[in-house]
Amino acid sequence: MKSTSQPLNPPLALAADPQCSAARVHRLAASLGLPLAREDQPPALLLHLSEERLALCKPGDPELPGALWVDFTRPAARKRALHPGRELLVQAAKVRHLASPLLIDATAGLGRDAFLLAAAGFRVRMFECNPIVAALLQDGLERAARSPYAAAIVERMQLIAGNALDYLRLPAEHPEVIYLDPMFPERSKSAKVKQDLQLLQLLDDRSPAAEPLLQAALALRPKKVVVKRPLKGPLLAGPAPSYTLKGKAIRFDVYVGG
Ligand SMILES: C[S@@+](CC[C@H](N)C(=O)[O-])C[C@H]1O[C@@H](n2cnc3c(N)ncnc32)[C@H](O)[C@@H]1O
Repeated sequence: MKSTSQPLNPPLALAADPQCSAARVHRLAASLGLPLAREDQPPALLLHLSEERLALCKPGDPELPGALWVDFTRPAARKRALHPGRELLVQAAKVRHLASPLLIDATAGLGRDAFLLAAAGFRVRMFECNPIVAALLQDGLERAARSPYAAAIVERMQLIAGNALDYLRLPAEHPEVIYLDPMFPERSKSAKVKQDLQLLQLLDDRSPAAEPLLQAALALRPKKVVVKRPLKGPLLAGPAPSYTLKGKAIRFDVYVGG
């Protein structure tokens, strides 16, 4: 996984369990441009490495979950991945007569959507521009690759840490579908998910604008560009979608092309 290091706001530091090798900890800190956490200067946000996982924590905030990490083997993820065809996203993205189309997920986040798409048979190339989110996702992918249940699915997923715009403007291949989910709207009634997203939103204050992504995606003329939006959110600026699939809280704007 490639990565970029940028100054972070709010302050974030890396802490590790004593069982983790010092070399691994320093490698991760250097690749993310993070300081190591010091007890006398507790950071607002903590990236915590243990033998089991990499997790994002906001210590001492009772309003937020203790820790957030990517786990594709959770029962909820497994249940949804068992019947991917029931998912509106999969229905929006599917391409007839193609067994395993190449799909670019230009806004990978925690990879939840990408996992469903991969479970449905897509080969998913994911881009994530926030280096911390990318590190959490990469860690989740590596653990899932060791799970008998999830390994076959994550085999079809590849993460590139960086801005998808760079790729879309100069693609190395021709994807059949490009998927964009550019923001973190409050779209779930589940308090747990809302809390997860709140924690992640603390990192997500510098996301690139979504419109250039849509323009670059359409310019590539894939068979479909699919954009996730809040149900009542405005269209992204540009041409009108060919059609829309609506769920309870979100919708998918589908642009049919080449
Ligand atoms: C709403 S989240 C995506 C959630 C994701 N669909 C999921 O299922 O977990 C949007 C993510 O897109 C990333 N992002 C936004 N613009 C991007 C770009 N131009 N290139 C790569 N990542 C981008 C943000 O950093 C953020 O993590």
